[in-house]
Amino acid sequence: MNVEVAANRVKELSDLLHHYNYLYYVKNESAVSDYEFDQLLKELEGLEQQFPDLADENSPTKRVGGDITKNFETVKHKYPMLSLSNTYSKEEIVEWEERIKKTIESDIEYVCELKYDGVAIGIRYVNGIFHSAVTRGDGTQGELISPNVRTIKAIPLKLSAPYPDDFEIRGEIFMPLQEFEKLNEERKKNELALFANPRNTASGTLKLQDSGIVADRNLDCFLYGLYQDRAEQTNHFDAVSFAGEMGFKIPRLEEKMISKVSNVDGILDFIAYWDEKRKDLPFEIDGIVIKVNSYRQQEELGYTAKSPRWAISFKFKTERVETQLQSVSYQVGRTGAITPVANLEPVYLGGTTVKRASLHNAEQMEKLDLHEGDYVFVEKGGEIIPKIVDVNEDKRAEGARVIQFIAHCPACSSVLAKEDGEAQHYCLNEKACPPQVKGKIEHFISRRAMNIDGLGAETIDALVEAGFIRNISDLYSLSYEQLLSMDRMADKSVRNLLDGLEASKAMPFEKVLFGLGIRFVGETVSKKLAKAFKSIDAIISASYDALVETDEIGEKIALSISNHFKDQDNVDLIQQLKLAGLCFEKEDEGMDSDLLAGLSIVISGTFNQYSRDEIKKMIEMNGGKNSSSISKKTSILVAGENMGPSKLKKASDLNIEIINEEEFLNRIKK
Ligand code: IVH
Repeated sequence: MNVEVAANRVKELSDLLHHYNYLYYVKNESAVSDYEFDQLLKELEGLEQQFPDLADENSPTKRVGGDITKNFETVKHKYPMLSLSNTYSKEEIVEWEERIKKTIESDIEYVCELKYDGVAIGIRYVNGIFHSAVTRGDGTQGELISPNVRTIKAIPLKLSAPYPDDFEIRGEIFMPLQEFEKLNEERKKNELALFANPRNTASGTLKLQDSGIVADRNLDCFLYGLYQDRAEQTNHFDAVSFAGEMGFKIPRLEEKMISKVSNVDGILDFIAYWDEKRKDLPFEIDGIVIKVNSYRQQEELGYTAKSPRWAISFKFKTERVETQLQSVSYQVGRTGAITPVANLEPVYLGGTTVKRASLHNAEQMEKLDLHEGDYVFVEKGGEIIPKIVDVNEDKRAEGARVIQFIAHCPACSSVLAKEDGEAQHYCLNEKACPPQVKGKIEHFISRRAMNIDGLGAETIDALVEAGFIRNISDLYSLSYEQLLSMDRMADKSVRNLLDGLEASKAMPFEKVLFGLGIRFVGETVSKKLAKAFKSIDAIISASYDALVETDEIGEKIALSISNHFKDQDNVDLIQQLKLAGLCFEKEDEGMDSDLLAGLSIVISGTFNQYSRDEIKKMIEMNGGKNSSSISKKTSILVAGENMGPSKLKKASDLNIEIINEEEFLNRIKK
């Protein structure tokens, strides 16, 4: 096949597949069988492989993902992404409508919509082609997650004409309930931690580096707003309908997912309808959004600092269900903190089946006055784990016994301790209580700490049980043979792990410090300590007073640190880790200088030694100014890997100095 013939066929296949995709995912219609669709897709894939120049970034083959993004670029929103002010009662809606009527004299039409519970997204299209997708972020700037959003099949990559040349459309990406349950079932089978709820899962999924995994998770999206400099339409409803004509998935009028009403009664009817019907939706909503329809009236009403005055949301009350308490079990965390957990008769709540609820601590249990076999009310608020909010005392069995908080550790039987003024009970057998030993190692290797690949919770359990490791320093003396003898560890995974351990020796001091898992010493505190004391030796020998005087270190943290190092075993552990080669001193990064004063600096691409955020921080600490786009005013472009060629060209056209990461670090070394 010559290129020309191939190009024609690629275009033909691509149009056809886009169309079938639209019918299936936006219109719920299947025009061809899955088999036929796959055949066409395979043919297209084949051609794209054979003629790489014909592969378009918006080809239907991109729906399956595969692109890896290391760090998402931060970009500024052209139109700020505001939020909605929330109301929780019908009275507030009535008041809102009255306020509106004070400003607008003429008739007002309202559009009622569902408030989809997912993640906001802004997608730009240029000449009818998907251009970029950005998360809400802080409302002013968000993260560029285009490769992940391209995999969402309800979002068109090419639009049906007519379309504006350049515009943005906003909507909500969510995970349908069925997908959420399917995903968790799979995770359960593979003994992976379960996801908490569809919204968090959608949000986490969109931040994955591997768009192939995003594609597998089958996210969905409803679009709810058009943003352009000059709109053809004069009102919101028409704009949404127009979006539908261009190929976007919009709420279905015939299913009352969107409705035009002319007064507050219409709004309240819509709310009442969906308060009842929302259980039947295949996705979660957390309320209703009401918008003034006319753009002219919207303008007249204007905005507050955070939200438009012409729109408001009504949030549904959190759902509450009753179920029976089966038992209370107790979990031991890595710091020895004991968390009581209620095991419940499984009950359906807000789209998922709930079997367990956190009881937080003894105080909480006392407050609820929990008795054996009690019927309890469970709510799922915004938080991850559902909670017990009340007990139905009327249903309590006669003679039911009060549930007492345990006195001994469920894992090692040590006597539990609770300090005055603290709510949590602790097991103090830090060095031998198995969940604490394992938990500390898991924490040490976790992504936010030492980020050691190739070691899961199960392998840690097995290594501890086999007696190969008792603490984090033992990790560094594991041998190839020991690891190979473990279940499910083959040559490749063993090498992977050993490489991971070796690489961790280059981790900066603050990560090591955080990895130690000292109680109350989280990521931020670790950074503050590393910056203030510069080395572990200085921290170990610091007095309580010196610690308390440090920025953001309070009494509780200071006491915890000084107690930690009063224990000689903990000091010895540091010694062993030093011998293993870990970093216990803060490297001089040339922080805090005015070496970059007066310079406007743009960073782009991905970096090896530091994250983009870290580099940005260094720029600020050395007096420079971060800027997100290249202009005549830019002084320096710090170019990372994979940066776009257009940026590079623009910078060199404007004669801007371009340096790489290493040169940048050299500049700020004193
Ligand atoms: S309109 C200026 N319509 O709710 C406000 N937002 O606090 C523009 N949301 O994160 C938003 N469903 O992503 C609008 N039908 C809907 C919505 C909706 C969900 C989300 C939105 C934003 C939050 C607003």
